Formats: sequence, C-alpha cells, structure tokens
Amino acid sequence: MSVLPNEGVLLDIGCGTGLFVERYHKNGGNAVGLDISTKMIEVARTRCKSCDFTIGTGEKIPFGSNSFDGVSSLLVFSYVKSPEAMLSEAYRVLKPGGSIAICTLGKKLLTKGIPALYQISERINVNHVVMKDFGEHYYNKKEMEGLFTNAGFSDTVIKWCSFAHIDMIDPLFFLAKKIEPFVEERIPQLAYNICVSGKKPHR
Ligand SMILES: C[S@@+](CC[C@H](N)C(=O)[O-])C[C@H]1O[C@@H](n2cnc3c(N)ncnc32)[C@H](O)[C@@H]1O
Repeated sequence: MSVLPNEGVLLDIGCGTGLFVERYHKNGGNAVGLDISTKMIEVARTRCKSCDFTIGTGEKIPFGSNSFDGVSSLLVFSYVKSPEAMLSEAYRVLKPGGSIAICTLGKKLLTKGIPALYQISERINVNHVVMKDFGEHYYNKKEMEGLFTNAGFSDTVIKWCSFAHIDMIDPLFFLAKKIEPFVEERIPQLAYNICVSGKKPHR
C-alpha cells in the first residue's frame, strides 16, 4: 500500500467496516470508502464519523471519471463476480498518473487445499463461517498480470505477503508485522495474499 498517494483523494473499494479508510484519514489522507453491504457501511460510518462512505459496487463505481488520485482494495477482489469490470471501473475513476493497489487471496500451497476443505466441512456439516465456501477465487501472478495489463494499467508490481491485517489488535498486529518478513523470505508458501499495484498512464 506504500505506492498509494498521501495527497489527493483515495477510493477504497470493499471498505468493509472502514478500517483502512479510518487509518488513511488519521494519517492525514482523504479517503472515500465504497462497499456493497449496507451493514458494513453502517458500521464504518459509526467507526469514523468524519470519513466519507458510500454504498455501491466496485463493478459499477458511483463516481465520475478521473475523480481519484488512488484506488485501494483489501481482501475484496477474490469475491467480486467480474474482476475485469472492477479493474475497468477503477481505471475509469482514477486520474491519469493515479495509482492502484489491490491485495487479495493468492494461489499458494496453503490455499490450494481450501476448496477440498470446504467440501469436507460441508459433508460433515461443519457450519462455521471460516469453513464456508463463498465461491472466492485464488489468484496467481500470471492471472493478476493479465488482468492489470488488459485494464490498461502500467508499472505493475506484484508482491506476496502473509497474514498481518489492520483488523488485528496490538500486540498481535505488531507481532505479525515482525514475523511477516521472515515468513515471506523463508517460507513463501505461507505468504498467500497477493498484492498488486499499478498506475493509470498519462496519455
Ligand atoms: C473480507 S471483507 C474486507 C473488508 C475490508 N477491505 C478489510 O480489509 O477489512 C470483503 C468486503 O468486500 C465487500 N464486497 C464484496 N463484493 C463487493 C463488490 N462487488 N463491490 C464492493 N464491495 C464488495 C464485502 O461487502 C465486504 O465488506
């Protein structure tokens, strides 16, 4: 997320309860959160009263073209029905020269077995949200590269990261951030989140 601009306006697609928007705002940035879920937006509005949140889908963004300096999206892309539409919309709403950063579930040894786990839990009637199949897609590097290039983005950079999420409370988040570099370097199969950044070129 370090590629995102500190100035201007950022759009966070699938902002959920507004964690990233709130953090961006506290760091002096100006961000708008967009989510398909009314409930999530309600919670987000309670979390950050001075932040801006809107209900809508990333596949048909309710903002005009060339409106944002940055677009972010954390752990959403894998659940979106049309990833092509979301990227094309992100491209449209970004100003020329604007940046995009997306982190989503990647295909790694650890995540390859998840669909099989879902099937097992369905057979033995495990009814826990963690074991529920949301039809999510696990992306590999080649797929993400293709999607970003086809949407028109340049300067695409792909990184893998592990498990530290802003949802974690300290000292868990602090610990996770410390362990992450070790995991990513020594046990890369455990770094299952794929993070892709790019730019809308100046034409
Ligand atoms: C796993 S949560 C991640 C929330 C937040 N980004 C975070 O990291 O805490 C996924 C979020 O994506 C939202 N979402 C799913 N599909 C969406 C779509 N097509 N457009 C906008 N939001 C969507 C869900 O409502 C949910 O809030």
